[in-house]
Amino acid sequence: MARILLGVSGGIAAYKSVELARLANKAGHSVRAIQTPASLNFLGRATLTAVTGAPVLVEEWERDPARGAFPGEPAPEHDPISHLELVRRCDVLCVAPASANTLAKLASGLADNLLSSAALACTAPVVLAPAMNGHMYEHPATRANLALLEQRGALVVAPDSGALASRGEWGIGRLPEPDRILAAVEQRLAYATRSLDGLRVLVTAGGTREPIDAVRFVGNRSSGRMGLALAKEAAARGAEVTTILANVLVPRPDGVRHLDVETAEELGSVASVEFERADVLVMAAAVGDFRPSARESGKIAKLGRDGLSLELEPTTDVLAALAGERRPGQTLVGFAAEHGDGASVRARAKLARKGLDAIVLNDVSLPGIGFESADNEVTIVTRAGELEVPRGSKAEVAAAVMDTVEELRRAPVSAPEVGAR
Ligand code: CTP
Repeated sequence: MARILLGVSGGIAAYKSVELARLANKAGHSVRAIQTPASLNFLGRATLTAVTGAPVLVEEWERDPARGAFPGEPAPEHDPISHLELVRRCDVLCVAPASANTLAKLASGLADNLLSSAALACTAPVVLAPAMNGHMYEHPATRANLALLEQRGALVVAPDSGALASRGEWGIGRLPEPDRILAAVEQRLAYATRSLDGLRVLVTAGGTREPIDAVRFVGNRSSGRMGLALAKEAAARGAEVTTILANVLVPRPDGVRHLDVETAEELGSVASVEFERADVLVMAAAVGDFRPSARESGKIAKLGRDGLSLELEPTTDVLAALAGERRPGQTLVGFAAEHGDGASVRARAKLARKGLDAIVLNDVSLPGIGFESADNEVTIVTRAGELEVPRGSKAEVAAAVMDTVEELRRAPVSAPEVGAR
């Protein structure tokens, strides 16, 4: 079991860190806690000391009576020289709640208290659970800090919506329930085992654009965030990752090979080359089903026209074509954007029709998730069953999808026949 370093920053939700520590202990992990000075206004250090069974540290210059040891470990004979001994020893750093101020410090690399110094010195995986007033969470500064921290590898557990601490306030910013934070911590710990080591993962992301003329196109609203979260997740688990990005404008994770395409046809030809050497294909791109039959070379002028009719022709179904060429040992995951009732039946039919191992179903009729948003909520459909992944950040959803990929690869079954029901 793991050594969890729990950072608690200032906010009403600090009290929930006590339950998080208790659940982590119950799951067999050992926990040490660092509190920021501001958090002491909400939670005295006696509480976490009692629950973790170890001293809670606040200041950079105070001595650690446990000399950096986690509960259950013998304390070293000598005092460690560094006040950063705890972060050197931990398997994961989890900051819950992470206030707007602490996030800003972590994003800019400030080290003005023990928690921010520890975070700066941390080489272990980091999980951040923001909790704050909804306006503070939505502020572009906080959004930018979170995006930067995610890009650097932190797993952000999206806050819940609901009643906030100030009376009468409602919105996003509530610290998620401790069991959800612990699940994220445990997922992040799985990275340490590099569970996809040696695998080649190909991810498509974004939305294709089919030109109408020199300046206009038929496209869709996919930003590519979900696909990039999947690529990042696979890379963090040790896979060699290639992405094929259709018109993706959001920041891309490092340590991944990125190939850019525009149309469904380009995506198809790059994918067929890359698929040959891939072990896993995750097809998150929203590929246009139709394209203009003819592309005008210049710009279609408005002058002298009453209207404009576009004739569209179908594109090739890239995923179905690749599934037809699959070799034994390849795992194929598709996405299905469905609307409303019967979504899961249609997704299951798609799984069979396209010959896939799993399909990630997005109900695009639900508000606040999917296209262009930071969160998602999906059902992962396999031939064995269905897994509901509750609303969370795209990073959390990506972790659940990669867990499914690992499961599918642990229990290999014969490749599904295309068209089988
Ligand atoms: N897809 C593809 N090539 C296409 C269209 C879709 O590879 N021309 C892939 C998508 O990347 C996704 C999956 O197929 O992984 C499902 O796409 P979707 O458009 O929802 O399914 P369709 O088969 O097009 O069915 P329909 O539009 O009728 O729901």
